[in-house]
Amino acid sequence: MLGRLLELNGIDSVILENRSKDYVIERVRAGVLEQGTVDLMVASGVGDRLHREGLRHDGVWLAFKGDRRHIDFRGLTGQSIVVYGQNEVVKDYIAARESSGHPLHFEISNVSVDQIESATPKVRYHHDGADHELVCDYIAGCDGFHGICRSAIPTTHLHLYEKAYPFAWLGILATAAPSSEELVYALHERGFALFSMRSPQVTRLYLQCSPDEDIAHWPDDRIWHELERRLQTSDGWRLNQGPIFQKGVTPMRSFVADPMRYGNLFLAGDAAHIVPPTGAKGLNLAAADIRVLAHALVTHYKLGNSGELESYSETCLRRIWKAQRFSWWMTSMLHRFGTEADFDYHRQLAELDYVTGSQAGMTSLAENYVGLPIDTDIPV
Ligand code: PHB
Repeated sequence: MLGRLLELNGIDSVILENRSKDYVIERVRAGVLEQGTVDLMVASGVGDRLHREGLRHDGVWLAFKGDRRHIDFRGLTGQSIVVYGQNEVVKDYIAARESSGHPLHFEISNVSVDQIESATPKVRYHHDGADHELVCDYIAGCDGFHGICRSAIPTTHLHLYEKAYPFAWLGILATAAPSSEELVYALHERGFALFSMRSPQVTRLYLQCSPDEDIAHWPDDRIWHELERRLQTSDGWRLNQGPIFQKGVTPMRSFVADPMRYGNLFLAGDAAHIVPPTGAKGLNLAAADIRVLAHALVTHYKLGNSGELESYSETCLRRIWKAQRFSWWMTSMLHRFGTEADFDYHRQLAELDYVTGSQAGMTSLAENYVGLPIDTDIPV
């Protein structure tokens, strides 16, 4: 995303990826785009397939005690979300990069960054049988939670905020037509479950499990049985089942690194912050960072004004903390924190009843889910 915005503004960049192209295109990850992320793709000239294949959703359902209550995003905020796989987003950006011929190297190894405080930071890496050194003006650390960039910042300059959750999500993809047009988030006595989708033929489903869950203990029958119990509602709504073609366990964590800049190294996306997936914010937060960073770099190169680079971290973190709060809140409201905690379960049911029964409650959920405003314009 950053490479494309820079390219459209005549600024050179080199993109280094340690995985193969097939891996990043095929690895299924998030699937919900806020309007701001859709706008970024469209403005970048990579929105054609998104327009054709993305599924616009005007709301979501919250299910509890066998009841299903609707939150009407469009009616409450005038905005919608679009269901379109993160790997599809990646595929569209790779295609655009390859057609414009700007450098994008896959399967690099031994990557390191050096002299990040200087005016000429360096990236060293191995690619195509040779060692390379890249001397640049800025490094964008878009290399995920386990990447090397954040750890290049001296710990004395970095504050890390972290929260762990006592559960994870077991996720599947199944060849089955989605049985609801919109997502269903469910709190059940046995734990959280989520109904989502990827296309008119593919259903995506999750259920709360333990953080060290062994997927081998979850044959397909057990998964369907558990999902049915947690997701069934008294209005007769039922899941469509079909062959499961992917299973995995997603860990849950809240994490923020502050500041998101050290010298001429800028962190963006999961390298700087992680949210639990309950609010569908991870990919959208990364896209918002990129909008702010691209605008700051363009302003620097075109106008010689570095003020936005100076305030990058502060600008991003103000909105990130609000998304952290929302993701934590959705997670806290919708998961069982232990079967003993009866008081908490009833408090959660009351919260769901309140949120889905009050205009103020529904509006608060809706405006956070569709994405809080981003102050920075898309620089194209
Ligand atoms: C997904 O479809 O993968 C998905 C949807 C909503 C979430 C998380 C994941 O909150």
